[in-house]
Amino acid sequence: MKRTKIAGIGKYLPENVVTNQDLTQYMDTSDVWIQERTGIRERRYGHRTEETTATMGIEAAKIAIERAGTTAQDIDFIIFATLSPDYYFPGCGVLVQRALKMKEVGALDVRNQCSGFVYALSIADQFIRTGTYKNILVIGSEKQSFGIDFSTRGRNVTVIFGDGAGAVVLQPADKEYQGILSTHLHSDGEFAENLAMFNPGTHANHWNEKNYATFDTAEIGQMFMTHAMINNGETYPRMDGPVVFKKAVVKFPEVIMEALQANNLTPADLNMLIPHQANLRIAQFVQQTLKLRDDQVYNNIQYYGNTTAASIPIALCEAWEKKLIKDGDLVCLAAFGSGFTWASTLLRW
Ligand SMILES: CC(C)(COP(=O)(O)OP(=O)(O)OC[C@H]1O[C@@H](n2cnc3c(N)ncnc32)[C@H](O)[C@@H]1OP(=O)(O)O)[C@@H](O)C(=O)NCCC(=O)NCCS
Repeated sequence: MKRTKIAGIGKYLPENVVTNQDLTQYMDTSDVWIQERTGIRERRYGHRTEETTATMGIEAAKIAIERAGTTAQDIDFIIFATLSPDYYFPGCGVLVQRALKMKEVGALDVRNQCSGFVYALSIADQFIRTGTYKNILVIGSEKQSFGIDFSTRGRNVTVIFGDGAGAVVLQPADKEYQGILSTHLHSDGEFAENLAMFNPGTHANHWNEKNYATFDTAEIGQMFMTHAMINNGETYPRMDGPVVFKKAVVKFPEVIMEALQANNLTPADLNMLIPHQANLRIAQFVQQTLKLRDDQVYNNIQYYGNTTAASIPIALCEAWEKKLIKDGDLVCLAAFGSGFTWASTLLRW
């Protein structure tokens, strides 16, 4: 069985730069607070109407497809990871298939938030290894700016997130040393409500004593989205930051070590770790725990914020464009996020 290689990679960031200072016009926050707690200086926001999660993903995909030396018509499967899809349904994958005039290939949307891209890679890896598909397009893209709370109430979430997209084309590896060595996926639903967007949804407050949605006297047909939910700000994502932080700094090193040990390798063997860009403080903590040098870890959250499913392919692409990743390098991708879910991939470039 041939391994799976990344044959082409691309990224797309909207032009509109939003600084920490810019956010102070909407909410009570400060550049100092945001930089101290998260490392973020600025993020990008997609154009109100001209850039969507799908269109940004499509732009990143075009670059990845070209760099893979292939065409959109050669792609035989699409996997799209996002938590901010253009439509509640159908998923963004079919919008990519239509826009790039692809064949009537399968299109799968992955709903694993910050771990979405690594989960998507893992799925693609199985299809390539078994010889089912030869050119798989995997996209991670987010337009977070559309769905977050710009009042002070939502500041702990809103200052963190940004928009953007990354994409890869995966193919069977031609060189023996090259490709994905292993992927490792995990979840713990005990924490499902600690980082979540509850509404609109079908939960009807079933899962928790806390009321995550106000239904008033709404009847069944009106319960999906009520005016009260909107008025109470219940349609925005919510996060218990300290709980996320504490779990992330344990699970990131754990899943990275799992990948290394599965391949009889150690942190010292790593040429590059691309952690999901959740928070610079988390990435620094992970670096310290694994005793990695600065040149073994790539971070760009300072400029793009946390772009959820897009953060790993954006960072991987940027590191590769800067020639920080070379042929044969050992690269680890690691993610943690809502669910909680966490995951890693170890590959030779
Ligand atoms: C979100 C995070 C930066 C908050 O930092 P923290 O030190 O844990 O802060 P807390 O949530 O305990 O809040 C501390 C105070 O800062 C305030 N605060 C929160 N967001 C703020 C903001 N953007 N600006 C200014 N003050 C803010 C809080 O209201 C709170 O005030 P209080 O003490 O008066 O109640 C931090 O918890 C974190 O990074 N968690 C991980 C988040 C993450 O990575 N998410 C993505 C996962 S994929």
